[in-house]
Amino acid sequence: MKVTIVGAGNVGSTCADAIAYKRIASEVVLLDIKEGFAEGKSLDITQTSSLLGFNTKVSGSTNDYSKTADSDVVVVTSGIPRKPGMTREELIGVNAGIVKAVTKGVLKYSPNAIIVIVSNPMDTMTYLTLKESGISKHRIIGMGGALDSARFRTYLSLALNKPANDIHGMVIGGHGDTTMIPLARLSSYNGIKVSDLLSENELSKVVADTMVGGKTLTGLLGTSAWYAPGAAVAYLVDSILNDQKRIIPCSVFLDGEYGQKDICIGVPVIIGKNGWENIIELDLNDTEKELFSNSANAVRNMNSALA
Ligand code: NAI
Ligand code: 2OP
Repeated sequence: MKVTIVGAGNVGSTCADAIAYKRIASEVVLLDIKEGFAEGKSLDITQTSSLLGFNTKVSGSTNDYSKTADSDVVVVTSGIPRKPGMTREELIGVNAGIVKAVTKGVLKYSPNAIIVIVSNPMDTMTYLTLKESGISKHRIIGMGGALDSARFRTYLSLALNKPANDIHGMVIGGHGDTTMIPLARLSSYNGIKVSDLLSENELSKVVADTMVGGKTLTGLLGTSAWYAPGAAVAYLVDSILNDQKRIIPCSVFLDGEYGQKDICIGVPVIIGKNGWENIIELDLNDTEKELFSNSANAVRNMNSALA
């Protein structure tokens, strides 16, 4: 199984590293526009293989898409990251041009690939890719909910002082500080509702910390995060390549589900070898429905900047 990752920067290279050492794919190609950069990152990752015990072939390419031919999955991380004080929205102009060119390049050599969009503003970039490529909606997946849910589970784990792996919780809606919806009501610690274990104030703080999860890291690091984003992409790619059919909140095209049409936004989907297979319609209460509708309005507003 072959995975191409476009953009060998912080997120792309971390994701390549995780895919290789977790042996999720047999081949990973990193591609970047910066001369020699992807080759350097892939050589560095390859030199960890005897230490970490994997045989995945990792190679790099400077903008030569022929090296990416016949990829099963293509991950798009190319673009500029958010700087401190910069909103995801401000990234739109630059990253839209990059995402359009990249999609064209990868589909020329891998016409059947499943495309995972990471570049921000991710929901809008996913929508743009769908409109530009004309390929089946099931093959275009925006990664945001996997990361936001991992952050939510981390903050729940810290508040509960319990292992994150024993905690279940999802974040749906747009991948933005004000648009994401951590579903506190539906979260549990091994079947026990977290709302029975945390006070309302504690739970509100977890939700608030999750929503600014990316912003907090951007403030600390001077650029946006990469370890958890890279791991979240690898988790998603694993479910595709190994047909695991995990339920992962991803940005996908809605056609009436959750009361929305003509938009890509985060909802729980089953992820397998054909991409996203079906949308799980959660039984949201009125408050959650209103939050989702507001989130969709904000994403749609951002999409209007594409015109
Ligand atoms: P980075 O700057 O470290 O890496 C981006 C790479 O893309 C650079 O190496 C650059 O040379 C390359 N690039 C630019 N134009 C290109 C082109 N036309 N073709 C090929 N490569 C090109 O940035 P980082 O931190 O890796 O972030 C990448 C993107 O992912 C950003 O848009 C960021 O906002 C987004 N992001 C999204 C997350 C999500 O959950 N959806 C999480 C974290 C980051
Ligand atoms: C993050 O959430 C900036 O989307 C990026 O870390």
